[in-house]
Amino acid sequence: MAGADDPEYVHDHPRLREFVETVHDVADDHGSVPALLDAVEPAFEDLLAADDWLPERYRELPPEDYDDRGRMGDDIAQWLLYREDERLALFTLVLPPGAATPVHDHLAWGLVGLHGGRQRETFYRRADDGTELTRLREEEMGRGDYYRLVPPENDIHAVETVSDEPSVSVHLLGADVGCIERHAYDTAEDAVDPFVSGYTNVECEVAATGEGHSHAGTDPEHHLGDDTA
Ligand SMILES: [Fe+2]
Repeated sequence: MAGADDPEYVHDHPRLREFVETVHDVADDHGSVPALLDAVEPAFEDLLAADDWLPERYRELPPEDYDDRGRMGDDIAQWLLYREDERLALFTLVLPPGAATPVHDHLAWGLVGLHGGRQRETFYRRADDGTELTRLREEEMGRGDYYRLVPPENDIHAVETVSDEPSVSVHLLGADVGCIERHAYDTAEDAVDPFVSGYTNVECEVAATGEGHSHAGTDPEHHLGDDTA
């Protein structure tokens, strides 16, 4: 568990630390998001393939009496594993069979990959001047499959479990994405609403006040370098 001197690790494991160090190393060497993601992906693939670093509790929904602080929906868990200021977050998203997230954006670069079960991802694009969404494509993903989030492209999606078991995806984001204000979309109404997803296991201070948010984590140097927001 996280030590008092290292609160960034909500969950601590040598493989997780090794991965975070890799992200830091490549962020120092790569100024653009695509180059950063090129360099991080091999380590991300290793993380998706390994079981030892991710305990059962982060692959499941919380127990019924658990104080769930997430806002994705009652049947969805978002377990924060690592968080670094406003610049980086690693978490799992757990959806039981048949459950789906709202259509939402991230406002940050990221990698999302399957660790267990199967998910259908539906990707959308937002018109520059409005709330209207264009449905781009669907992809069904199994263990080890992953994709990039690179705003403004590939930033809006909905996720649904299509397996008989819960799906577990691992998310690396270039922002504390559970605690920033982003957007949820009602595609039937062409409506967009402010959206703070929270995390199941960790409070969001900004979410409680609704102030001091909005960090568009699209620049790896800005968000992982010394000159933080
Ligand atoms: Fe997402």
